[in-house]
Amino acid sequence: MSMENKRYYLELRGVNKKYGNFQASRNVNIQIEKGRLVALLGASGSGKTTILRIIAGLESPESGEILIDGKLVNNTPGSERGVGFVFQSYALFRYMTVYDNIAFGLRVKKKPRNYIDDRVHELLKLIDCEGLEKRYPNQLSGGQRQRVAFARALAPNPQLLLLDEPFAAIDAKIRLELRAWLREMITNLQITSIFVTHDQDEAIEVADEIIVMNHGEIEQTGSPRELYSHPQTPFVAQFIGASTPVENYQRFRFFQSLGDDTTAILRPEFVSVFKKGENKKYTESAEEGVVEDVIFRGSNLEIRVRIHGVVLSGNRGINDPVVEIGEKVDVFVYRFLVVDGKKIVRLDNSSLREESIII
Ligand SMILES: Nc1ncnc2c1ncn2[C@@H]1O[C@H](COP(=O)(O)OP(=O)(O)O)[C@@H](O)[C@H]1O
Ligand SMILES: [Mg+2]
Repeated sequence: MSMENKRYYLELRGVNKKYGNFQASRNVNIQIEKGRLVALLGASGSGKTTILRIIAGLESPESGEILIDGKLVNNTPGSERGVGFVFQSYALFRYMTVYDNIAFGLRVKKKPRNYIDDRVHELLKLIDCEGLEKRYPNQLSGGQRQRVAFARALAPNPQLLLLDEPFAAIDAKIRLELRAWLREMITNLQITSIFVTHDQDEAIEVADEIIVMNHGEIEQTGSPRELYSHPQTPFVAQFIGASTPVENYQRFRFFQSLGDDTTAILRPEFVSVFKKGENKKYTESAEEGVVEDVIFRGSNLEIRVRIHGVVLSGNRGINDPVVEIGEKVDVFVYRFLVVDGKKIVRLDNSSLREESIII
């Protein structure tokens, strides 16, 4: 099937949105298949909420097309787009019980009383909140409140669910539980969903596919692994995963220069640190560095090592012979991600044969 013919449940084509002179969305293109859970990831102010509001019909763009299930909806009112929205704050009506909150959208749609009653109880069961229907939001835990907000959005059976940083105001431990809960829930319900977050760990944990936004533009879309291993822009290379900038990568042996005005980014996985002569295979091609710090990271040690005037982070196993601060060590760099204008080029250590290159 050609890309042209492929049917997506949601599609944005060349969407632009301005607030006054400020361009909040710039040529945004999004394609999401039916039933997928996709994360929209970006720093605060990058334009994530604006995109959700455009999809939900709460804002209209200056230009571009919004298609839901193959149908152009630019002129369709939000209430007729089949979209459910879970907001970051004020997620629930404070003066309504749990029951009334969940029933809200159904009453707006003038559903019969019996239908509403059945649906609310079905949802209370789904979110594991049976027996809480008479409570008010302030009588619930943070986690319960978010689950009720989720049920309220689901009540009218939306085909597209938009979640705007739903866990941002919730403490760390419950947030972890809710992430797993939400992922399971959406996978079971098979409802096409966009989950907005500014937290890369949250995006990686919740979604199979991530859209990275920066200054109103989409930088890259892909699986967490693709974004990590094959970043296409300098922003993505630095935003996803740990990285150290290295201005003078040309000084490292076995790396050709890709031009004087190129710089590089290094990930800890690209650097191995050995005690002098410890690893015979790399002794010839390693370079000498000095250990500046040794940091325990649970499953591994992060070794901060100074070499060619920069301090790099490398990994070392927790059971490997101890290296100490001030010790001279062999440092082997496998790869740099070279920033060449707006592009990223993967540059591998030329002393390695093809088949031994990682990732
Ligand atoms: N109604 C508005 N009027 C003017 N500027 C706005 C409005 N809504 C958002 N903005 C601006 O647009 C930018 C993107 O906002 P937003 O989409 O809320 O970003 P995010 O959700 O990623 O934090 C921000 O700089 C914000 O200040
Ligand atoms: Mg926002």
